[in-house]
Amino acid sequence: MGLLQVCSVLCFLNSLISAGLSSPLAGREAWNYVEVRDGAHMFWWLYYADCQSVQSRDLPLVLWLQGGPGGSGTGFGNFEEIGPLTRDLEPRKSSWVQAASVLFVDNPVGTGFSYAQNPEAFATDVSTVASDMLVLLQSFFTERTEFQSVPFYIFSESYGGKMAAAISLEVTKAVSQGTLKCVFAGVALGDSWISPLDSVMTWGPYLYTTSLLDDFGLQDVNAAAAAVKQAVEQQQFLKATELWSVTETVVEQNTNGVNFYNILTQQPDDRLSSPDDDFISLQTRRHLRPLYRQSLSELMNGPIRKKLGIVPQNVTWGGQAEQVFSSMSGDFMRPVVDVVDRLLAAGVNVTVYNGQLDLIVDTLGQELWVKRLKWDGLPAFNQLRWTALDDPASPGVTGAFYKTYKNFAFYWILKAGHMIPADQGPMALQMLKMITQQV
Ligand SMILES: *[C@@H]1O[C@H](CO)[C@@H](O)[C@H](O)[C@H]1NC(C)=O
Ligand SMILES: *[C@@H]1O[C@H](CO)[C@@H](O)[C@H](O)[C@H]1NC(C)=O
Repeated sequence: MGLLQVCSVLCFLNSLISAGLSSPLAGREAWNYVEVRDGAHMFWWLYYADCQSVQSRDLPLVLWLQGGPGGSGTGFGNFEEIGPLTRDLEPRKSSWVQAASVLFVDNPVGTGFSYAQNPEAFATDVSTVASDMLVLLQSFFTERTEFQSVPFYIFSESYGGKMAAAISLEVTKAVSQGTLKCVFAGVALGDSWISPLDSVMTWGPYLYTTSLLDDFGLQDVNAAAAAVKQAVEQQQFLKATELWSVTETVVEQNTNGVNFYNILTQQPDDRLSSPDDDFISLQTRRHLRPLYRQSLSELMNGPIRKKLGIVPQNVTWGGQAEQVFSSMSGDFMRPVVDVVDRLLAAGVNVTVYNGQLDLIVDTLGQELWVKRLKWDGLPAFNQLRWTALDDPASPGVTGAFYKTYKNFAFYWILKAGHMIPADQGPMALQMLKMITQQV
């Protein structure tokens, strides 16, 4: 049965269900666990593309990867960004299921509803994250053969982008070796932690030019960033992660608590540093709590868990997130620019997209590593001027700029912070359609 037939059958069932049942959760979905290594259980949740729009063609499949590491795609990405329902279980107008089937996977192991049964089951580096995901994808495409012939894209946010790059390389290899049956069509790196040092080194200049640092603050932030740089250059990556956290505190102190995810807002008080923090608990509060906010946790550990019906009793959504982050902390500051280069050299379609108001992964830093790519198309890419795009929500108002050459594209998304689909839903949906060649 093809995607189209599955979809129309489900569409029919769904209309029957919704006629008699007002639950907004009734829909065209599937979910399951895959044990990707001993004691390492990963959870996925799939939404089939919206039926009305699938009539003319098969829509692509999009895998969405959240950041952290330890942020949950099935929770945050799904209910706060691109899924069919909002956190209040209202329909989302700019849901990506209008243009694609969307697969959320809680990765690395221990994230969201995924769980590790023993401490060894947590991943400690991106290569384990990538090999775990490959096992999951092999299981998914074997179980759901209808997706083997549909264009398959990976979209990501933040640390998810670092994982997406590594996963894309594994997928490319596996497809060419015949060990994964899918039509891999490209990867999109949103506000991605590809070159952590380029992000940290540009915090000072970015904040200074946006009136968020004075001269003293600029000096302090640059000095803290220089210490991170030294640790990275000496390959002391765990130390670099700790110094990254220190640099954030220096930013916090000099900006009166600017929000790392959107410079036009301030950090809520519960994310600010306190003198007795150790750095893992501080970073968990700073960067995982926003993804596991109370209202979302109540939804996921309440009605959603009940609806799913397969989450083991002793597994709490988000219960192992801190361990996920902590296990990866020695890998956190390692760059993966070389992986992006290998993808480009292999002919994979790569898109970078970034929010104008993001601090943690500011656009300035993305420009820097992109300009250092060894990709042979870079000189020609650099010669091109960008093109303005209207914001679909406000025709006549610029919502983004973009530029593309051969298999690389860059989207500059205006008035968006770190979480682009949450901040600029219609623009993000338009970008999805452009990348997946639907417009
Ligand atoms: C949940 O309980 C089972 C069985 O007692 C155990 O094997 C597993 O490790 C536990 N899982 C977690 C995440 O604690
Ligand atoms: C990459 O994108 C181009 C359009 O920019 C498209 O023609 C090509 O088919 C894509 N490649 C793959 C592998 O999907």
